[in-house]
Parts: sequence; structure tokens; C-alpha cells
Amino acid sequence: MASLLSFDQAPPFSVPARFFLTACLFGVAAGVMLAVLGGQVFASRWAPGLLALTHLVGTGVLLQVMVGACFQFIPVVTGANIAHPRVVASIVHPLLTLATVVLATAFLESVPALFLIAAGAFIVALSCFIATILLALKRAPTRSTLHSAFAWPLFALGVTVALGALLASAIASGSPFPYTRVTNTHLTWALGAWCMALLGSVATVVVPMFQMTPAYPRWFERGFAPAMFLVAGLWSTRIMGWSLVPAIAALAGFALVAAFAFLTLSLQAKRRRKLTDTTFAFFRLAALAILAEVLLWSAREYFGWWQAETRIDLLLGLWMLIGVLLSTVSGMLYKIVPFLCWVHIQRRGPFATTPPNMKEILPDGRARKQFFAHLTALGLLTIALWLPSLARLAGLVFALSSAWLGWNLLGALRIYRATMETIGRTRADAERNGL
Ligand code: HEM
Repeated sequence: MASLLSFDQAPPFSVPARFFLTACLFGVAAGVMLAVLGGQVFASRWAPGLLALTHLVGTGVLLQVMVGACFQFIPVVTGANIAHPRVVASIVHPLLTLATVVLATAFLESVPALFLIAAGAFIVALSCFIATILLALKRAPTRSTLHSAFAWPLFALGVTVALGALLASAIASGSPFPYTRVTNTHLTWALGAWCMALLGSVATVVVPMFQMTPAYPRWFERGFAPAMFLVAGLWSTRIMGWSLVPAIAALAGFALVAAFAFLTLSLQAKRRRKLTDTTFAFFRLAALAILAEVLLWSAREYFGWWQAETRIDLLLGLWMLIGVLLSTVSGMLYKIVPFLCWVHIQRRGPFATTPPNMKEILPDGRARKQFFAHLTALGLLTIALWLPSLARLAGLVFALSSAWLGWNLLGALRIYRATMETIGRTRADAERNGL
């Protein structure tokens, strides 16, 4: 797979790095906010504090990482050339950061104008991002299955933002609105057709490449992202009060994400190198969390185990955001960041001394300790849903885990910088000495 990668189109490292580091800061902010607000945020899914936290994680952490990864990953794996990546990133990154801060404040303080400002900033930032990437994919010199695997989640992100903006303007105007139906549709597009579909597409590249497994089956590589889009589209007919089509769509959606989890677990079991690392652990946790989610959802949808809103609904959201999505994203960061450092260093060769390899750039022992902090945070957050007095501690541990992730990534960047400076100095010395 590495031989299929095209680094000529890779944007400067500063482009994705700013999104990755900002994401960690949003993780810290979310943890601190939970520690300050305490267990009251778990009173209901509509609690303003919980909606603010949901978006600090959903758009502050996950969206930042995924946007940053798209800037880097899509050109490298598809050969698409992103026009002016530095300029686009310097528009998208501050706007996205501002939009998340304003949206979280709007939820917390209930200020109608802030909902409109946040919606406007998200629309500008993400239209700019989506248009740039889709254009790059369209103009790519060659086409592969990966083009549609990345394009469909981007369309889904567009639908997510449109629905989020619709909700925000309805809240701002205070007019009667079918909030529950539209919110459920918004979150289906956000978590299913955008996040899960994109991560599934990225997994088809990074799992075989970094975990030395066989490839995902062709039907999954080709079909997962468009199928998730179709499922979300069919499920959205619930807005019009339909029931049969959404029920079939939900069944198909559960089957697809369960297939993703099963495939990942079975490919990991067939890996060529039996050693495991932290990315492996994060992916395994995510796959198990997906299976737990599917079981719980099925219990609710098909066996009617519970009807009214309960803690289990909050648990489903928590496990999806932190157990599945944040685990996958963290696991990917632990490979993508040292890999990018290594690639950018290699492009500066030849070298007088051997440059650091990926494991020296980000030692697995450091990542492993942060994985346990993440696991502890997830466990405490889960217990805190039933024991709200634990919420503050859970928030602090989550903040610690996010800061730790950021610190580990910064460590890799520090080694990258130092190596690049050494290479620059050695080269300047050699030129001065006429070598
Ligand atoms: C792309 C990443 C996003 C994710 C993962 C996400 C996730 C979610 C989730 C899970 C909920 C439901 C919370 C619950 O039911 O307890 C929700 C609600 C909401 N989202 Fe998003 N969202 C995203 C983007 C946006 C954007 C860009 C906006 C635009 C302003 C937005 C505005 C809203 C609003 C206003 C609600 C609450 C609706 C209400 O109170 O009735 N979201 N979001």
C-alpha cells in the first residue's frame, strides 16, 4: 500500500498539525466544562450543558481532526492536488474553532444571536473545505474506489451542517419546530454518514498498512461510504412521519456498522505481525464499542426494551462519540502524526546520520499510557450517567487524557523540528565546506 501513496501532493505539515492540536485543546475544554458543570448535565439529552459538551467533542475534537486528516490524507492516498492548502486551512481552521466556541456558548447561555453566528461560521468554513476537497478529487489525474469513499462522507457533512444550521435558526427564532425529528436526523447524518463513513474509508487504508492485516473486502472498500449515505437518506424520511422505510434503513445501518466492526476484528486477528500497539488497542476498543452499540440499539428498536428516554440513550451517545469515534480518531493520530513526520523528514534526505524512525518519533509506551487514561475516562463517564456525583472526576480525567494526547503529539512534532533543524545545519555546513 505504501507504494501506492503519492507524497508529491502532500500539503505542508503545518496544515493538518494545527487542526490536530486544536482538537486536543477542545478535548481539554470539554473535560474542564464537565468538571465545572457537574452531573446536572446528564439530566436529559436536551440539557444545554450536554448539548454544549456534545459539540465541543463533535465539532471541536472529531471534526477538527477529520478535517485536518482530509487535508493530508486525501492527496496522499488519491493523488488529488488540493489547491492552496495553506490558504484554505487558514480560513477553515479559525472559522471552525470560532464556530464551535460560539455554538457551545449559545447552548450554555441560550443567546439566540449566537446560534445564528455559529451557524454562519460553520456554513462558510465547511462550504470552503468541502468545495476545495471535492474539486481536488474531481481533478485528480487517476480515479480509484477511494474517490467515492471520500466524496460521499463530504456530501454527508454538507447535509449535517445544513440540518444543524436549520436547528440553530429555529432555536434562535423560537418558532414551533419538530426539534426531536430534525435533531435525530441531524445526528444520523453527523455520526453515521459523515463520521462513521469517513472513518470506515480511512480504515480501509490505515488498518492494512499500519497493522499489517489483509485488505478489507472489495465490496466494503467500494460500498461502505455510499451505503451509509443511502441509509441516512432513507432514514431521514422519518421527518415526514414515515415508519417502514426508516425501520428498514436503521436495520441496514446497524448491519453495515456491525460489518465494519466484525471485519476490523477479524482482519486484526489475521495480522502478519503478532505484536500489538496502541493503535491496535484503540481500534479494538472502537470495534467492541460499535458491537455494544448495535446490541443496545437493536434491543430498543426491535425488542422494545425501553420506550421513554432513559440513561441508556445518553449511554449510546457517549459510547458513540467517545468509545467509537474518539477511540478511532486517537488510534489514527498515533499513526498519522509520526508517519507524516517521518515522510517529511525522508523527503529532506540524503542524511549524514540515520534520522529517527516512526517508533522513535512517537514511542508506543507513551501512547499506551494515554490509552489507559482514555479508557478510564470512558469508564468513569459511563458510571457517571448513573452516579452523577462522579461526573466532575470523569471530566477531569477526560481533560487529562486529551491533554496527554496533545502532549504526545507535540513530542513527535518537537522531534520532527529538531531533526529538520539538524538536517538544515548539516547541509549548510557541508555547503560552506564545499562538500
Ligand atoms: C459535524 C459534526 C456534528 C456532530 C457530530 C453533531 C452532533 C450532534 C448531536 C449528537 C446532537 C444531538 C444531541 C442529543 O440528541 O442529545 C446534535 C444536536 C444539535 N446540533 Fe449538532 N453536530 C454537528 C454539527 C453541527 C453544526 C455544524 C451545527 C450548526 C450550528 C449543529 C447544531 C446543532 C443543534 C442546534 C442541535 C440541537 C438541537 C436541539 O436542541 O433541538 N451541529 N448535534
